[in-house]
Amino acid sequence: MISKYFDQLFQEAIKVRKKAHVPYSKFKVGAALLTENKKIIVGCNVENAAYPQSQCAEATAIGNLVTQGFNTIIEIVVIGSGDQLCSPCGGCRQRIREFAPLNTPIHMCNVDGHQKTLTLAELLPYSFGSENL
Ligand code: THU
Repeated sequence: MISKYFDQLFQEAIKVRKKAHVPYSKFKVGAALLTENKKIIVGCNVENAAYPQSQCAEATAIGNLVTQGFNTIIEIVVIGSGDQLCSPCGGCRQRIREFAPLNTPIHMCNVDGHQKTLTLAELLPYSFGSENL
């Protein structure tokens, strides 16, 4: 399930993770999305003094994806902080669901490397998408 794009996605996520604005949690996250045209789109988390206004790395990356004119994600790398698994939060799983097929691999990593890969379907079973409307 680890594609030939993994290393590039990992390096881009490492780079953007360093830009995270995390004065409150100090928990940096970087996300790299592979589009179906094999472009890599990145994002980091952006926190706010009004804590609930903070934005996850995946949400930033998805905003960048759409801004740059793309709409399909086929692979994702998320790099958190520390040794525990940094799996996308519930809200971000649903955000990813809008743009990624259910078999999209989501590689959860820390700065030292790969930890676990799950598909979107595994992370978000019985999900709600546009076809449910
Ligand atoms: N965070 C992300 O950016 N992505 C995730 O997948 C999990 C959590 C951020 C939100 C907050 O800025 C920090 O990590 C701690 O929760």
